[in-house]
Amino acid sequence: MTELLKIRDLVVAFDAFHAIDGLDLTLEEHEVRFVIGPNGAGKTTLIDSITNLVRPTAGSILFAGEELLGKSEYAIVRTGIGRTFQKPSVFDELTVLENVDIAASFRLPFRSLLRRRKGISDEVAQTLGSVNLTDQSESPAGSLSHGQKQWLEVAMVLVQRPRLLLLDEPVAGMTEKERLHTGELVTRIAAEGTTVLVVEHDMDFVRRFAHKVTVMHEGKILTEGSVAEVQSNETVREVYLGRPRDARGAAEALT
Ligand SMILES: Nc1ncnc2c1ncn2[C@@H]1O[C@H](COP(=O)(O)OP(=O)(O)O)[C@@H](O)[C@H]1O
Ligand SMILES: [Mg+2]
Repeated sequence: MTELLKIRDLVVAFDAFHAIDGLDLTLEEHEVRFVIGPNGAGKTTLIDSITNLVRPTAGSILFAGEELLGKSEYAIVRTGIGRTFQKPSVFDELTVLENVDIAASFRLPFRSLLRRRKGISDEVAQTLGSVNLTDQSESPAGSLSHGQKQWLEVAMVLVQRPRLLLLDEPVAGMTEKERLHTGELVTRIAAEGTTVLVVEHDMDFVRRFAHKVTVMHEGKILTEGSVAEVQSNETVREVYLGRPRDARGAAEALT
């Protein structure tokens, strides 16, 4: 097993508050890791740190042995890291196909952009197929359902062929059927060789699709293990139970 991502002693401070507070996390190449934790645990800030949307105050993030801290957002994309956002950020006025096509061009060197022929590349068509959006290729992205927009965003990252994919609550706002599709999609992406980190709040989804789970709490890793191990962990139960606004998560975590 190769360590693909190795985070050590990470701290992200917003004034005196540490949103990430001495976090260590290691991902092996080709694994699918679910990261759960109550609201405010620091899950999004963790993804933001890896992609340089926030600047950590201390620590180290090694990706394939290379330090990411200090690299630009763009340089990080070029090293092979792609992410989605909690709120999909697609171009509503452009078609589904145009969105993916633009994303595909981001990773090309400028010279090949100039040489690039018009028309749909196989890669774009194949990526649209993998997220079940072939039939919507010509529709404006703005006309998609919330779930479909999430998939489009995944497609826009996938087409850049990331080595590590970071998904921030991909099933939020999705229907049951869309959740199922998303779970299958994540499984397929991993089977095709991409390492995936999924931040998730929906315990039901985690139970169905997770292998190894990392639990975050107050900017730290509380525990790691299988779904069963994590669910039977007393501290994890307390963390979910201790917060009234996470009552739903708590109820689910206990079943
Ligand atoms: N830009 C920011 N400035 C100040 N506080 C922030 C900022 N971003 C996040 N936080 C705080 O950091 C904590 C972790 O937030 P976040 O990573 O979004 O949590 P999660 O994704 O686990 O719900 C929260 O208390 C949040 O209010
Ligand atoms: Mg979040």
